[in-house]
Amino acid sequence: MSLLLKDRLTGLLPAKMKEKLDPYFEALSIFTEVRDPRVLGALGPAGVRGLLLQRGKQGVPTKMPAHHSAHFDWTYPSDHAEMADLYRRAKQGQWDSDVHLAWKTSVDPLNPEVPLLPEDYFEWAKLKENGIHLDARERQQFIYSMTSWMLSQFLHGEQGALFAAAQVTEAVQFFDGKMYGSTQVMDEGRHVEVFHRYLDEKMNKLYQINDNLYVIIDSLMSDGRWDMKFLGMQIMVEGLALGAFGTLYKMTKEPLLKNLLKMVIQDEARHVHYGVLALREHIKKQLSESERREREDWSFEVALLMRNRFLAYEVYEEWFEGRLSREAWRGIMNDSPGMNEFRVTMFSRLVPNLREIGLLTPRMIPRYEAVGLMKYFGGAAADKITGKGMIAELDKAA
Ligand SMILES: [Fe+2]
Ligand SMILES: [Fe+2]
Repeated sequence: MSLLLKDRLTGLLPAKMKEKLDPYFEALSIFTEVRDPRVLGALGPAGVRGLLLQRGKQGVPTKMPAHHSAHFDWTYPSDHAEMADLYRRAKQGQWDSDVHLAWKTSVDPLNPEVPLLPEDYFEWAKLKENGIHLDARERQQFIYSMTSWMLSQFLHGEQGALFAAAQVTEAVQFFDGKMYGSTQVMDEGRHVEVFHRYLDEKMNKLYQINDNLYVIIDSLMSDGRWDMKFLGMQIMVEGLALGAFGTLYKMTKEPLLKNLLKMVIQDEARHVHYGVLALREHIKKQLSESERREREDWSFEVALLMRNRFLAYEVYEEWFEGRLSREAWRGIMNDSPGMNEFRVTMFSRLVPNLREIGLLTPRMIPRYEAVGLMKYFGGAAADKITGKGMIAELDKAA
């Protein structure tokens, strides 16, 4: 829907009604931003389930049918040396959260001496311009909500990653990839464990899944094409996760959380590396021109959706609903220094990976240029960075 039409429609409505309809217009605007009808076909049904029906927020388990085929090979070929190497490294990199993390650390989310996030993560002045003043204590409580919200989304994302890793282990045709995939399933299980334990024991708070995150997970789980699952989960979602984990790792002063993120980031670095290995040859050699174009468009659209859509409405509803419009919240969130940092970390990882697997073709470059993403083009892709290297880089930047 064009902005103009939205304004014309909502301009006729009283403010209260306008506010009520805002989530629907926002959902519609997501669909009308998508230009390729095949991309819409892949994202649309999941979008209806996530954004309109809010399936992730009904308080009951969700069933998602899967449509991929399990690929068996009874000859057990050694078919991918780099994946076999990644499997060996993954075995050596396994860690036990009971041993490696100091769960005895006492965490007080409201202790100003050990902040979860720095004060300037958020644009307080902008909030004030909109008539809302929070005192020092309220700011800390707000940061506590925000951190719990982020960690809750990490946890929900990890549940998606656990099931997606199991699916791609079945579907992938490389036998060395299946062996590697078994380690990723374990890794993701451990990630669910540690984020859940931290939220449960230290934060005492769990937020529902964000609707946009639900849409991405739903569309991956139900897409039968193995390479779309890889592209979606191993490149896009894991790329997003690495950006978010990296940002929080750099910013937090809470030692248990910092160490937890450090361990998780090192696992995730392998996951994205695997995604690059599996897709590089497939996209360049096995796809038709038209199939490749669809994936080029799909990843661009998803990158854009991810850039602007994780706006913590769940925190907004808890704190400001009725006092601040959703539109004003969007503006404040999009311009906050924390979100900015997050976007930079995320795209500096994601764009080089898209280049490496062959989706940043000359046809796409002007579109990336137009949204300011080409500046990340030259960075190192995931097959060139180890988890330890990634941590060293984050420490240096902090
Ligand atoms: Fe994970
Ligand atoms: Fe992962």
